[in-house]
Amino acid sequence: MKLRDQVVVITGASEGIGKATALMLAEQGARVVLAARTRANLESVADTIARAGGQALPVPTDVTDSRQVTALVEAAIRAYGQVDILVCSVGRGLRKPFIETTDEEWAQLVAENLTGTVYCCRAVLPRMRLQHRGLIVNIASRSGRAGEALLAAYSAVKHGVVGLTKALAAEEGASGIRVNAICPGPVATERMRKILPNADQTTWLTPEDVAQAVLFLATSPGHLAQAKVLDLF
Ligand SMILES: NC(=O)c1ccc[n+]([C@@H]2O[C@H](COP(=O)([O-])OP(=O)(O)OC[C@H]3O[C@@H](n4cnc5c(N)ncnc54)[C@H](OP(=O)(O)O)[C@@H]3O)[C@@H](O)[C@H]2O)c1
Repeated sequence: MKLRDQVVVITGASEGIGKATALMLAEQGARVVLAARTRANLESVADTIARAGGQALPVPTDVTDSRQVTALVEAAIRAYGQVDILVCSVGRGLRKPFIETTDEEWAQLVAENLTGTVYCCRAVLPRMRLQHRGLIVNIASRSGRAGEALLAAYSAVKHGVVGLTKALAAEEGASGIRVNAICPGPVATERMRKILPNADQTTWLTPEDVAQAVLFLATSPGHLAQAKVLDLF
């Protein structure tokens, strides 16, 4: 029980990396606040956690709407009195030649991967400053560290997430708040299996691998984890 009574807000918590992280941190005693848009899927994760003896609060939220993100953090504080950790796991890739990227696709990539992360970080920071401690973990991507063909637009927004993370770590470090990013290579989520059915999936990470990295950051002493971008590839 390495995270007993810590309060963790996790976005994208109904599927993939976010769901695996919610299950793993709840297993370690954290009280988890689960955010995604589809209520039924969130409730299913919350039920799984409750059946295992944990505590979870599903809060349907679209992270691209700042008012909904504010309401999410307010719900977490109302229910559990604090926010110790934020994990931002909403995001989606776009695999196509850059010159074919439409305005709509670009706007959606920015909204889901970057704007949502900005809104969530901004919403938890006042509370973390009051507490003089906190941890933010943004799930970026290998594409946020290196350029890959057919992933230019995704790479641009994920570099943005990494840049936000490094700058926030510098800005908030003195307040006792750590800000980290995790940059995974391909992860065997349901969505990825559908998008790339013919890829060699034997080298892919599992969602639990990424959750384990979040747990590592959540349980590492501050001086080890400040301003760290963790590459998982
Ligand atoms: N899978 C990979 O190979 C991989 C590799 C590197 C990095 N990543 C990054 O890891 C993160 C998680 O990816 P994943 O593959 O685990 O995703 P996923 O399995 O597709 O799950 C996405 C989650 O985000 C939620 N979501 C989507 N749009 C949302 C919005 N506007 N507001 C709130 N929730 C929203 C979804 O639920 P609803 O649709 O119900 O809202 C779902 O819970 C992303 O940032 C992704 O870029 C993934």
